[in-house]
Amino acid sequence: MRVLVTGATGYVGHAVAVALAEVGHEVAALTRDSGSGRARALEDFGVLPLRGRLADRALLSGMLVGVDAVVHTAFDPDDPVGADRALFAALAAAGGRRHLVYTTGCSVYGEHAHAMLTPQTPVDNGNVRARLEAELRGAGLPHTVLRPAMVHGGDARSSIVGDWFREAASTGPVHRGRRDKVWSWIHVEDLARAYVALLRAPGDHEGCTYLLADAHPATPLAVVEAAARVAGNSDAVAFAPIENEKPVYRVFDRDEVIDSSVARAALGWTPQESDVLAALPPSFERWSAARP
Ligand SMILES: NC(=O)c1ccc[n+]([C@@H]2O[C@H](COP(=O)([O-])OP(=O)(O)OC[C@H]3O[C@@H](n4cnc5c(N)ncnc54)[C@H](OP(=O)(O)O)[C@@H]3O)[C@@H](O)[C@H]2O)c1
Repeated sequence: MRVLVTGATGYVGHAVAVALAEVGHEVAALTRDSGSGRARALEDFGVLPLRGRLADRALLSGMLVGVDAVVHTAFDPDDPVGADRALFAALAAAGGRRHLVYTTGCSVYGEHAHAMLTPQTPVDNGNVRARLEAELRGAGLPHTVLRPAMVHGGDARSSIVGDWFREAASTGPVHRGRRDKVWSWIHVEDLARAYVALLRAPGDHEGCTYLLADAHPATPLAVVEAAARVAGNSDAVAFAPIENEKPVYRVFDRDEVIDSSVARAALGWTPQESDVLAALPPSFERWSAARP
């Protein structure tokens, strides 16, 4: 299958593009800078970087020619809505039945109080990404929505765990907001395997929404503490209020526990990697090696 991956220079997208190439797909990667180190590194795995941006509909339309599936993991913080709408429009204009694997996350549930999140849990209709998911459903494009839990593992590049390694190695460990909140997690390599499983038979998953998590929820507080120890910092964790923190802390200042049984059954997918706490030492090694 010929697959175009957006965001393949990013944390999730890199793992996904490499995993798809490894199982024999012909993979191209949309990137705004095909000369960057991250883009060139993709070539070592047989992934072809293509220069462009989501907002450039004409260019994107050209890239879609001959492509069987698009895996969207790009996230443009400057224009999350416009960028994704441009992709939907390019796919609609291109016609055909190419499948879009659309990555969002659990922010679609907004400020909820659900003990467990499932694909049936009502989303917050005011949430930007929930609205984009709805627009995609309304556009009639063949697609599947994937909502990963908090991602960890690998080089922890743009993960929250990477932030905690950085803090532990500089100012010291900090925990934000509620101390008792519990989150679900997914290792980046297990997440990539879910995309591979989906693209074995994308038509079987048309219109579906899957939540992806391992079976080992953990409190962010335990992960902050363990990440600090792994990074060689034995300071006590400092506690910070949630106000003025970046969105990922404010949005997720609550339990975010995922039931991924629907995805497991439908995709024939079972997470294989270590849980977040056990994965911290190898991840710290990779994170340290990747530091500029
Ligand atoms: N990380 C997590 O813990 C986590 C958890 C749940 C869900 N997710 C979701 O998974 C997705 C990927 O997250 P991530 O952590 O891998 O993000 P990331 O590392 O920040 O990567 C995002 C990528 O998007 C690309 N991009 C940004 N704006 C673009 C544009 N206008 N046109 C084309 N490409 C553009 C960038 O590539 P270039 O700079 O090369 O163009 C970048 O490599 C996001 O939707 C995120 O919300 C992530």
